[in-house]
Amino acid sequence: MSYGGNMNFSDHQIGIYAQGMFTDRTPKITTDLANLEDQAAATLSPEALGYIVASAGSGSTARANRAAFEQWRIAPRMLRGSAERDHSCTVLGTTMPAPLLIAPVGIQTLAHPEGELATVRAAAALGVPYIHSTQASHSFEQVAEAGGDAPRWYQLYWPTDQSVLLSFLQRAKNTGFTTLVLTLDTTLLGWRPADLNRGYLPFLANLGIENYLTDPAFLAGLDESVEANPVAAAMHWAQMFPNPGLSWSQLAFLRENWDGPIVLKGICTVGDARLAAEHGVDGIVVSNHGGRQIDGARASLDALPEIVDAVGDQLTVLFDSGVRTGADMAKALALGADAVLLGRPFLYGLALDGQAGVDHVLRCILAEFDLVTSLSGHTGAAELSRESVIRS
Ligand SMILES: Cc1cc2nc3c(=O)[nH]c(=O)nc-3n(C[C@H](O)[C@H](O)[C@H](O)COP(=O)(O)O)c2cc1C
Repeated sequence: MSYGGNMNFSDHQIGIYAQGMFTDRTPKITTDLANLEDQAAATLSPEALGYIVASAGSGSTARANRAAFEQWRIAPRMLRGSAERDHSCTVLGTTMPAPLLIAPVGIQTLAHPEGELATVRAAAALGVPYIHSTQASHSFEQVAEAGGDAPRWYQLYWPTDQSVLLSFLQRAKNTGFTTLVLTLDTTLLGWRPADLNRGYLPFLANLGIENYLTDPAFLAGLDESVEANPVAAAMHWAQMFPNPGLSWSQLAFLRENWDGPIVLKGICTVGDARLAAEHGVDGIVVSNHGGRQIDGARASLDALPEIVDAVGDQLTVLFDSGVRTGADMAKALALGADAVLLGRPFLYGLALDGQAGVDHVLRCILAEFDLVTSLSGHTGAAELSRESVIRS
């Protein structure tokens, strides 16, 4: 299948049927994207499962994220001539085959030994932009090498050590990351019982801190090498990661030190969306971190329409938290998102079959999205609008 220009995502559906009927081969991983989690759960260690699947507190926000999608139904229109379809778009200067990006997710080696390298390769092959987490298990440089010239953005957790912050920004620039995504909702880790009950925080075993461990400014703060004293390295990270003092006034500093677009991730209210616009950023991600931070926070999808109404003409509005299927993607775009970030599902694909698993999940969600939009009378993602959905 060719992914250049006007792509035929739903060829993937025909391909699966043809393989089944003519070569007796069926997909290794389920095509039922909403149930990927169950299949992945069988392969993950209890620690990885707890870290990836579980959410903050009672899990109420994660459940609300999914329930919010049930509150909106697609309102299909007929006879609209959607034989030719084009979902491609340009978001903050990055061109992509459809309005879909890989969400920043830390410590991907918990899911698969190749971690981020497998993900970035799968994303690059399809032209889907990859967002690199500050808490990754591979460094900027390793990911850039694996991703080649495919589009990539960088997600920043703002460390309290300014020399490390500046070094991260410089390394991201040097290695071809074009847009900066500053995550606001994790200045402290949320209350996560699945990890707490195991006393399990992978960062303290030096997992997911590879960007730091390869950073000259970070290493300059250690008295001994990481190999000689790994615990001291983890403690050095633990002392600069929490940043609850972060405030709006600091954004100007980021602007001075980053040339490309800046996106704020974790916006859940109209008030903060307006502040983001006033502070001159280029975009926001309406997100509650997949319910991993504040138990009881509102569903991300519930916040989306009012935020789009308030700032959609000034800012690029991205969306995540709860997207599982192509239909979910269509609903979020119909409610005004310029693009969506795919979180846990790609990680389940990674857990199940490495790069091929991420490829499978991306192809499936894009195929389903193409079918849903076509069947409901749209010739491309750009045609989705509030008229495409109706409140249940
Ligand atoms: C295991 C895991 C690790 C994550 N790590 C990060 C991270 O390092 N930085 C970040 O901004 N968001 C992180 N997120 C949040 C995702 O970017 C995204 O907001 C979330 O997965 C969306 O929710 P969903 O997966 O339920 O759709 C992580 C999510 C998961 C599941």
